[in-house]
Amino acid sequence: MKNILITGSTGNVGLEVIHFLSQKSNHINIIAGIRQEKEIKNLLVNYPTISCKIFDFKNIATFDGALQNIQTLFLLRPPQIAEVEKYFRPLLVAAKNKGVKEIVFLSVQGVERSSIIPHYKIEKLIEELGFDYIFLRPSYFMQNLTTTLLKDIQQKNKIILPAGNALFNWVDVSNIGEVAAELLINFTKHKNQAIELTGYENEHFQTVATMMSKVLGRTITYESPNLIRFYYLKRKEGLDAGFILVLIMLHFLPRFQKAPKISTFYETLTGKKPTSLLSFLQREKDKFNIMRT
Ligand SMILES: NC(=O)c1ccc[n+]([C@@H]2O[C@H](COP(=O)([O-])OP(=O)(O)OC[C@H]3O[C@@H](n4cnc5c(N)ncnc54)[C@H](OP(=O)(O)O)[C@@H]3O)[C@@H](O)[C@H]2O)c1
Repeated sequence: MKNILITGSTGNVGLEVIHFLSQKSNHINIIAGIRQEKEIKNLLVNYPTISCKIFDFKNIATFDGALQNIQTLFLLRPPQIAEVEKYFRPLLVAAKNKGVKEIVFLSVQGVERSSIIPHYKIEKLIEELGFDYIFLRPSYFMQNLTTTLLKDIQQKNKIILPAGNALFNWVDVSNIGEVAAELLINFTKHKNQAIELTGYENEHFQTVATMMSKVLGRTITYESPNLIRFYYLKRKEGLDAGFILVLIMLHFLPRFQKAPKISTFYETLTGKKPTSLLSFLQREKDKFNIMRT
């Protein structure tokens, strides 16, 4: 039996990884690393066969317990944690000392061109410490529409981002979870590789807004404000300054970059086409409705 620890297990990607792992193999133990005790019950209701361990990136005292008897780690960088030396080095050193051999790290497409982003530094650290690894590098999550951008869509019928006409490659987090589960189980087959994972569509936000309007039956407009206006708009809504800067980096910089590369890895691995934007929007349609209290 292989013991796999999943970090970020209550988030978008982690939940999908658990979902697919728990369907795929009887020869693994899935251990969800959970920051808060209250989350354990929620996870176990849906996935009664997994176990949970308290794990907090910011609390070194939780590392040894969570890493006990773990061979394979699914490592995710929570969006709020950017300090690699402060948080990831101690964790990875602890993992090494505890005998973890394999790491599937959720990175990001294009990481190799951007040495300032934390994912780049984490990839380097994993190599430096001598783990076998798979760097899974997905493109832009379709689920950004149902998370970060949801409030503006629900309440203002708008997508507001400083992305201009930049093209984004859109990938479904469910496809990422499916691939990650396969990589965690059949690690050796793919080890020491970086794998880009994308959907088949490079689209800009204007096109996505038009598609959404058709699917939702109401007009969704796309607005690309200048950076100062975007910053103040989001500050007024109470968003953390650091998070706004991340949004700017993610959406403004692609205006000056080439169109994202499209990868066929998902289809090669699963024999299926990746989720299209249209089917994602149809599947998640209800989430975009205005919430009434
Ligand atoms: N959005 C995109 O388009 C995109 C594209 C490519 C790559 N990525 C990468 O994907 C990652 C984000 O994945 P996601 O969307 O699944 O994130 P998410 O939904 O925000 O989930 C974050 C997870 O991390 C956990 N977490 C937060 N702080 C923690 C701590 N101190 N200790 C332990 N766990 C902690 C959260 O647990 P709690 O429930 O306790 O908060 C949650 O399970 C980032 O690294 C991002 O750069 C994103």
